[in-house]
Amino acid sequence: MQVLGIETSCDETGVAVFDSERGLLAHELYSQVELHRDYGGVVPELASRDHIRKLLPLIDQVFRDAQTTTGDLDGVAYTAGPGLIGALLVGGTVAEGLALGWGIPAVPVHHMEAHLLAALLEDPAPAFPFVALLVSGGHSMLVDVSGPGEYRVLGQTLDDAAGEAFDKTAKLLGLPYPGGPALAELATRGKPGRFNLPRPMLKKPGLEFSFSGLKTAVMLTVREFEANGPLGESDKADIAKSFEEAIVDTLVAKSVRAIEATGYSSLVIAGGVGANRSLRTELRAALKKTGGEVYYPSPELCTDNGAMVAHAGLLRLAAGHRSTGEVLARPRWELDELQPMQTS
Ligand code: KG4
Ligand code: ZN
Repeated sequence: MQVLGIETSCDETGVAVFDSERGLLAHELYSQVELHRDYGGVVPELASRDHIRKLLPLIDQVFRDAQTTTGDLDGVAYTAGPGLIGALLVGGTVAEGLALGWGIPAVPVHHMEAHLLAALLEDPAPAFPFVALLVSGGHSMLVDVSGPGEYRVLGQTLDDAAGEAFDKTAKLLGLPYPGGPALAELATRGKPGRFNLPRPMLKKPGLEFSFSGLKTAVMLTVREFEANGPLGESDKADIAKSFEEAIVDTLVAKSVRAIEATGYSSLVIAGGVGANRSLRTELRAALKKTGGEVYYPSPELCTDNGAMVAHAGLLRLAAGHRSTGEVLARPRWELDELQPMQTS
């Protein structure tokens, strides 16, 4: 089977062709980062318009890269949510239109499911069951993944998502948008342990997260400094380092707790924050102590991309799932509302 995947839920236009035998044949990604930079965040209407501008040329490009033609395709998968409504509608409309024109099925894909299963694109791939730590700009959750389409949310954030905390803290430190990668880069030059920032929710039992207090603690630290003059570069780097340490400690401790609670041995990282190097290193070390194993997609498959959508869409199509023929766009869509893959 061969599936075209389309991702337009936020500010990346991602397109890919995935083949059940040969794997990922090609994937193209266009990031709108420059477009939104001046605004310090994603402007939904601009995002939708830019997806319109880039999507068809990227689909052409991916066909050329994959040396595939429409006749080889068995379906068109698209991200149907959660995400920005206008942006989702662009991908959904193009996908449903192409599928109708080509006489093949379209299949709506849940963005978080696509992230959860992205590690299966790598070699070695994790075997089911596993615990997934899904940390992106909009979500932070631990999920019990007992099989494809079988998800139980074990705990999630009560306020900000981990990526959101990275982005907001970066803004406080005057870093350019998008903040997460810039803050992580700055942290590499910081002194470890200089500021004692809170590790939210660590003392409480359970698998919930909370990151807004951490962001406030950074704000207070920055204000204290600024009362005595502008923040120096090395102070900024030290704050970035202490912030990263606090967030990584929290994510690691809760992930280990989830592994112990489920009795599983594999932990899979998904979502944009999964690209963070310290998080990867610390999780690997912590899981080694439990005798478990960490799996992560390559950084380019951690952040939003078309490959994960083509892959999840192919699994859903193979299990008999189809769109109704109408564009599905769900800005809010809980992971545990999904049907297991076996039922068509
Ligand atoms: O999964 P993703 O690409 O989009 C969403 O579905 O949200 O995640 C984007 C988030 C942003 O908040 C971004 O700042 C964060 O992932 N991010 C990082 C890193 N790379 C991306 N956060 C920390 N360290 C990184 N290296
Ligand atoms: Zn995402």
